[in-house]
Amino acid sequence: MTVNDRWTGLRAGQRPFRDAAWFYAEYRYRPSEAFVRLLAGQLGWSCSDRVLDLGAGPAHVSLRLAPFVGEVVVMDPERAMLEEGRRRAAAAEIDNLLDRERGAVALVGYVKDPDYNLVWLNRPPWNAVEAIRRRHLAGVPERPNPAGRHDPFPEILARSAFSRIELLTHEYGAVVDPSVDAAIGFQYSLGNLLARLGERRAAFEADVRAALADADTSPLTVRLVDSALIGHRPRA
Ligand SMILES: C[S@@+](CC[C@H](N)C(=O)[O-])C[C@H]1O[C@@H](n2cnc3c(N)ncnc32)[C@H](O)[C@@H]1O
Repeated sequence: MTVNDRWTGLRAGQRPFRDAAWFYAEYRYRPSEAFVRLLAGQLGWSCSDRVLDLGAGPAHVSLRLAPFVGEVVVMDPERAMLEEGRRRAAAAEIDNLLDRERGAVALVGYVKDPDYNLVWLNRPPWNAVEAIRRRHLAGVPERPNPAGRHDPFPEILARSAFSRIELLTHEYGAVVDPSVDAAIGFQYSLGNLLARLGERRAAFEADVRAALADADTSPLTVRLVDSALIGHRPRA
């Protein structure tokens, strides 16, 4: 990676998640309640604390955090995401930033092995969706997307005010209900995907539904790892 490859933020008019909000809220991974309880205990949260969820999307993680603190502040540049979050929670108001003396940063969902979103979608027959998507998007230009274009998170934290790093994990068995709607909905939760598909959307869905017509939709038990990379302030 060179410096020029780095993600430098969204420019005016660039809205990769404009169409993804509902699908994101509906079909994306969110950490378990058990893990959020663990995180709240680890960071000593109480109702006098405030959490900032930066890049919160549709308040997906915030909704889980809210019962453990006095206030969750949700920030996201995509108003469709915030509107979806408001619809689902009516809980988020932009407010002050973290206390200068206290506070910690938690990157929830840091461990991606196994990939919590793809744990059932990357196995047959569900993984056919990926190839169908590639076929429908052949020749359609990519659009701005931040994926991967940043320094590793531990390095970013190490040079920040939250340089004391800790990894919190919680492994468990979860039951997922595979469905064609969820397989399609996950795709639509990805940045720019609906905009790139455009008028091809109906044909894409028809191909996916045909390919998965006989797919087994019985519940599956999968191993998941919830996690948070936590940055604390250095000990005085
Ligand atoms: C992949 S979603 C993550 C949502 C949520 N944090 C979760 O884990 O479910 C990424 C979100 O980051 C937002 N985003 C993009 N650029 C951002 C920036 N520079 N600052 C803060 N948020 C940003 C997007 O609008 C999008 O809603």
